[in-house]
Amino acid sequence: MTTPVRLHQRIDWNSPDQQARLREELAAGLLAVKAAIAPKFFYDPLGSRLFDAITALPEYYPTRTEAEIFTTRLPEIHRALGEGCTLIDLGAASCTKAGKLFHAGIVPARYVAVDISVDFLREALHTLKRELPAIDMMGVGLDFTADFELPADVPAERRMFFYPGSSIGNFSPADALAFLKRLAAQLDGEGGLLIGVDLIKDKALLDAAYDDALGVTAAFNRNLLLHVNTQLGADFRLADWAHVAFYDIEQQRIEMHLEARRKLVVTWPGGQRRFAAGECIHTENSYKYSPEGFGALLAAAGFGDIEMWTDTRGWFALFFARPARLA
Ligand code: AVJ
Repeated sequence: MTTPVRLHQRIDWNSPDQQARLREELAAGLLAVKAAIAPKFFYDPLGSRLFDAITALPEYYPTRTEAEIFTTRLPEIHRALGEGCTLIDLGAASCTKAGKLFHAGIVPARYVAVDISVDFLREALHTLKRELPAIDMMGVGLDFTADFELPADVPAERRMFFYPGSSIGNFSPADALAFLKRLAAQLDGEGGLLIGVDLIKDKALLDAAYDDALGVTAAFNRNLLLHVNTQLGADFRLADWAHVAFYDIEQQRIEMHLEARRKLVVTWPGGQRRFAAGECIHTENSYKYSPEGFGALLAAAGFGDIEMWTDTRGWFALFFARPARLA
């Protein structure tokens, strides 16, 4: 017996209400003293495809390195997830990583794919369902970086949150702690969290990973402005903006910015912002952790039984943790 894919839209991204909220958020960010746009706005249909291209770049080691850990640690991952879990994939996008686990024989009772980019998710999930019709699959379109609630038909038992790719790095450490606490609160004693974390490493390697020679990361960053033009009705001109990305050793994070190449004004219905030449819009942080640092963060968030696997070069880590047993 196979069941069809259901897609829940917890947020109707196309509702006038939601569109207005997103426009307000964008306008507020552009009007801030230090202009900023949240990284979730990268992922319009073209942005999701550009991110897929990033993962194939020679300089962008995280995806490849994480895949190496998955491949070498399949038995450990299998043991950790156990049988009959509900696998909840946060930021599932193309569903590639979950699909690889399934094809390797690590099969949950239920697969719940969550992503903000709903249309992209819908197509990916349909493709995966065609490959693996026996697995019960559900898609959920929501912004899980905010307080979120899964649909009522997602079982509360044996939930396994799957958060690969080091997307946790987009949160500040304080926000990451709050986010991890929210996840822990949604797990029962048999639940767990399988999470990928990018590790602190040589600055040159990090700089190259976020400013590749082919310019794909630059295109990914600058595409944000096309998305803002569509969403907000702004008049950003791509030629005026340069990609800037660097690792800040002190703050242990990659920063990405868009830098105005000249003095200019950006206009949208109901607002405008002047930029001086060289002024930046902050578009992303990507925090890097030490194995000890991230382990401590998990413990502070209420996780215990923490396991960690890393690659041969120690560039990336995969953590598995369960909610700590209350004494
Ligand atoms: C999807 C957030 C994990 O931080 O490495 C890649 C996004 N930005 N290149 C990352 C990203 C520029 C990526 N995450």
